[in-house]
Amino acid sequence: MADHQHDPQQQHAAHPHEHGHGHSGGHGAHAEDGADEAALADLLDLDAEVLAEHLSDVTAWIAGSAGDPAPRRIVDVGSGTGTGTLALMRRFEGAEVTALDRSTHLLGRLRERAGELGVGSRIRTVEADLDETWPDVGPADLVWASSSLHHMADPDRALAEAAALLRPGGLLAVVEMDSLPRFLPDDIGLGRPGLEARVQAAMDERRAEDMPHFGGDWAARFTAAGFTVRAERHFVVDLDTPPPATARYAHAVLSRSRDGLGDRLDADDLAVLGTLLDGDGPEALLRRTDLTVRTSRQAWLSERG
Ligand SMILES: C[S@@+](CC[C@H](N)C(=O)[O-])C[C@H]1O[C@@H](n2cnc3c(N)ncnc32)[C@H](O)[C@@H]1O
Repeated sequence: MADHQHDPQQQHAAHPHEHGHGHSGGHGAHAEDGADEAALADLLDLDAEVLAEHLSDVTAWIAGSAGDPAPRRIVDVGSGTGTGTLALMRRFEGAEVTALDRSTHLLGRLRERAGELGVGSRIRTVEADLDETWPDVGPADLVWASSSLHHMADPDRALAEAAALLRPGGLLAVVEMDSLPRFLPDDIGLGRPGLEARVQAAMDERRAEDMPHFGGDWAARFTAAGFTVRAERHFVVDLDTPPPATARYAHAVLSRSRDGLGDRLDADDLAVLGTLLDGDGPEALLRRTDLTVRTSRQAWLSERG
């Protein structure tokens, strides 16, 4: 689940729009730039493709901790394109998932993909700005929130709403990334060693300004919202021979970083980033043969009292 910066221009739908099983299309008062939303959708899907094993490890960990009976009614909070929705459906056979997101486009992608996979009848998408109104989609056995809680204006309120959706004893699974994934060796042969580390540091700096909840003490927040933290795990991803989609994933991550950083990088770094992203020589990202994937994410499984 790659992260993205919150767009302050975005308008929020005040009322949830529901799409039942098998519907496609959709609308909403959503003003994020279409190309930007499409790029974000690609990024989220590439993240799930490259980190498929990691996603599977996380859902296996949840299944192991959840025990019997396995969750059947699941709510995905801030589902995006539904990478978590689909992973949970694969893990929990027969489960039905309600995906909540404020983005018409991302939910549309989810319905399309679910249709292709023949699981559309097990998925319901509900468009809602969770900073405003939480739709009444409970009771749920499991609420999943991956890389979404830190986007909320008031995560404590979001946790209270999530608790209200859960049946007593129901589970809340939260995954948060530690920082952006890294793909490049320190020396990329273009004369600017350490470029990716500087991009990441600048992104961390920007995120701290734009998303003050990122990297907070989530376990303390869960406890304050009345949950009991049952398990916590740090997942480290270290792929020396990553799958073929990695080049496109790296390109998507670094493009988004470049768009968001502008003057936080100096002109020489920006020029090298341009060569990586736009060049067509052997050093260009999409042609490189030296990419790896390094990232880590933290997961918590908590029980509603
Ligand atoms: C980084 S993406 C993660 C998507 C998905 N959970 C994943 O792991 O691939 C964050 C998602 O949260 C959604 N989101 C952020 N703030 C929201 C809000 N206030 N209401 C509803 N959805 C929100 C965004 O639209 C986006 O799809």
